[in-house]
Amino acid sequence: MVLARKRRHLSEKGVTMRDQLVDLIVENGPIPFEEFQERALYGAGGFFVGDALRSVKAGDFLTSPEVSPLFGATLAAFVTAEAKRLGATPRVVEVGAGSGSLLKALLEVIDAEAWAVEVSMAAQIATSYVVGAERVVASLDDVPFDGPVVVIANELLDNFPVAIAVRTDSGWEERWIGVDGGNLCLVAAPLRDDVADWLERFGGDVPVGGLVEAHVLGDAWFRDLLGRIETGTVCIIDYGDTAEGLVPRRSFGTLRTYRSHHLGPDPLAFPGETDITADVNFSSLLAICGELGWEATLQRQEDFLTEYGLRAELSELRRQELALARDGDPMERLVVRSRKNEAETLLHSRGLGDFRVLVARR
Ligand SMILES: C[S@@+](CC[C@H](N)C(=O)[O-])C[C@H]1O[C@@H](n2cnc3c(N)ncnc32)[C@H](O)[C@@H]1O
Repeated sequence: MVLARKRRHLSEKGVTMRDQLVDLIVENGPIPFEEFQERALYGAGGFFVGDALRSVKAGDFLTSPEVSPLFGATLAAFVTAEAKRLGATPRVVEVGAGSGSLLKALLEVIDAEAWAVEVSMAAQIATSYVVGAERVVASLDDVPFDGPVVVIANELLDNFPVAIAVRTDSGWEERWIGVDGGNLCLVAAPLRDDVADWLERFGGDVPVGGLVEAHVLGDAWFRDLLGRIETGTVCIIDYGDTAEGLVPRRSFGTLRTYRSHHLGPDPLAFPGETDITADVNFSSLLAICGELGWEATLQRQEDFLTEYGLRAELSELRRQELALARDGDPMERLVVRSRKNEAETLLHSRGLGDFRVLVARR
């Protein structure tokens, strides 16, 4: 098992991804942070490449759909409401569908044509059991966008590669990946125009020394997605906040790693072996909605799930648990209690309930 795990992070020549990156940088010079992150997550030997499913109980992090099928069931109520607004049953597309747990729970409640967009081979295989292999694709290019559509992406954008910048006395400076003493390290680099534009609009009021992740690539993906949709709804769920809300987190930035359900080591220490993620800046996504003529709302997950019935479901589960405690089957009580705990976890105001939900409509 240990050997199998190690093999995943070695190239065919038996060189680790870290060593390959060091060689590349020594030969050609520093690379932008987003190139490093892209390689570490999605390149050969990357974290999301290979045979391991990452977003499951036995994996590296636990997401809302993995906590409970109640998440997908509540999103089914959301899709039903959107179908009413759109006046037709929409196609449902999940991007970054992971194990398929969200779509599985959703399709148990509603009947819809569902598609999964996934870049990870392990996740493609897992989701094919849920929606059928012919509706699992690697790119938005392969999804039919004719007719109304509801697109859902849970914990996708936090994984998009970011540029990194630091506020200095004289303005912004980028941080790229260089090599020092044989180790990967952050090095100062001049600001590129697209990163400068992004920081100007969405960097926020950051003190000198503060670190900001610029979501240039994530924003380009979102803009492209909206541009494909004639009529429909896009629902982006993730950790993060508006540019203003993120300012208190800027002393050290929000970049972090996850491994085996714990905050992991420095993102540069074990590329390919840890998730690398950053808080999503919802201000830039809201701005794109405005520019492209989409109506958008931003809520906390707790409020969003309450709006579509989860808090009412929680009250009912609490009532059932009490009734079963007085006079009921102990096994049934355990099942109800575990459901109730799951609903509480999804709504927890300092945990998953504090995620943000952006809903864009056209
Ligand atoms: C953090 S996991 C979340 C999985 C799932 N949404 C969940 O909530 O359990 C992010 C997933 O997005 C996938 N992914 C990353 N970039 C992608 C892209 N551009 N298109 C499609 N999937 C992508 C990864 O392979 C990974 O399975």
